[in-house]
Amino acid sequence: MDMSILTANGIKKAYPLPGGELFWALKGINVEIPAGKLTILKGRSGSGKTTLMNIMSALDAPTEGEVFFDGQSVAELSEAQKTKLRRSGIGFVFQSVALIPIMTAMENVEYALRLAGWKNGRQERARECLEMVGLGKRLSHMPGEMSGGEQQRVAIARAIAHRPKIVFADEPTGELDTNTALQVVRIFKELNSSQGVTIVMTTHDRGFMEIGDKVYELEDGEIKGGQ
Ligand SMILES: Nc1ncnc2c1ncn2[C@@H]1O[C@H](COP(=O)(O)OP(=O)(O)O)[C@@H](O)[C@H]1O
Ligand SMILES: [Mg+2]
Repeated sequence: MDMSILTANGIKKAYPLPGGELFWALKGINVEIPAGKLTILKGRSGSGKTTLMNIMSALDAPTEGEVFFDGQSVAELSEAQKTKLRRSGIGFVFQSVALIPIMTAMENVEYALRLAGWKNGRQERARECLEMVGLGKRLSHMPGEMSGGEQQRVAIARAIAHRPKIVFADEPTGELDTNTALQVVRIFKELNSSQGVTIVMTTHDRGFMEIGDKVYELEDGEIKGGQ
């Protein structure tokens, strides 16, 4: 039995429509995220992946249902506690990479550590993380001097640098070709084993499902299947 680090129970999310009616983007989702593993949320565009991920990462609140992180109800945290959780317990990777263009790979990761409140050892940790994602030879490259896949790997190094327990990656391979995408997913698997970090990623891609330790398939705001 896997230990779960995050549990979402009966998650529903309604967005108000212009006419005042509600649109139910999530219709009662139950998921369990195993600790130290790679979980993939797959589904077509509009199926509710980003909405669910934003709720799991405490960026957004559900209309109904509850999220437990490490056994703690997220709804019961104060705003300050939620901010602290997002800053120190969670890492984020997005589809559009959003590195700071005037900073080198090293500086981008080091800056994230500074924002996370790290006082010491930032350089060493930044280098270590860039080496982990295979960019040990690109430390002083600017984002504009790197390929899309390399930039995404810098973003991954940045997301894990502060040693979060869980990393949420929303369509991290969305703008990459198949081989580069596969490389990114393999890096996630390596980080599972070497860092013990839990990773949740979304994708609308049908490939590389077999790499996920757990897969949930979303369709119109409901879990349709998985493995
Ligand atoms: N802020 C919002 N207001 C209204 N509808 C939204 C909002 N965000 C998402 N939706 C709708 O909720 C559904 C799920 O969206 P989303 O979670 O972004 O799906 P996915 O990430 O799988 O593409 C879509 O129909 C989308 O149009
Ligand atoms: Mg999305």
